[in-house]
Amino acid sequence: MKLPKHLLITGNPATGKSTLAKALEKRLNGFTLIEISDFIREHQLIDGYDRKRNVEVYSPDVVAESIEKFLKSQSHVILTGPPLNLNPVEDFFAVVLSCLKPDVLKMRMRARHYEERKIEENIEAELLGIVLGEVESWFEHVLVLDTCSITLEEAIALILSSFVETE
Ligand SMILES: Nc1ncnc2c1ncn2[C@@H]1O[C@H](COP(=O)(O)OP(=O)(O)OP(=O)(O)O)[C@@H](O)[C@H]1O
Ligand SMILES: [Mg+2]
Repeated sequence: MKLPKHLLITGNPATGKSTLAKALEKRLNGFTLIEISDFIREHQLIDGYDRKRNVEVYSPDVVAESIEKFLKSQSHVILTGPPLNLNPVEDFFAVVLSCLKPDVLKMRMRARHYEERKIEENIEAELLGIVLGEVESWFEHVLVLDTCSITLEEAIALILSSFVETE
């Protein structure tokens, strides 16, 4: 694939999505960064609050549909946040970030004052590869990067080179 129309940078919490997306926005001329959480809030797509799990609730399908509509008038967007089944798939290059070092991920989440229960839940999801499985079943072009084993610069280089290799 050549330079994709849009990039999706996704993965479990604290895997380094926003850090990488911001760095890529600086590197890729003409791409605009959109945090999916900001889009959800700005477009009032929050359905409620799950007090038990301490998270805002939204419908991924409704959010995906709303983003798809919005992207029709956009040429190059870097979307970052939770996994979403976006169409048309050929418009997207999906990057799934993982961190296969549970201790590192734990430290990152503790620094953000995540509850211990939520940390355990997220680490389990990470080790089971749930996000990766979903994204691989949705998109044609998927790159997986372990941000706990490579540097930010290496991650950027791998993404840029994969545009050329899959051309
Ligand atoms: N490649 C990296 N190497 C080392 N530390 C990193 C790397 N990427 C991110 N971090 C650190 O990990 C933490 C989480 O990063 P970031 O906020 O980018 O993750 P996120 O996936 O966007 O999290 P969230 O799901 O909460 O939005 C930050 O403290 C950041 O500095
Ligand atoms: Mg983030």
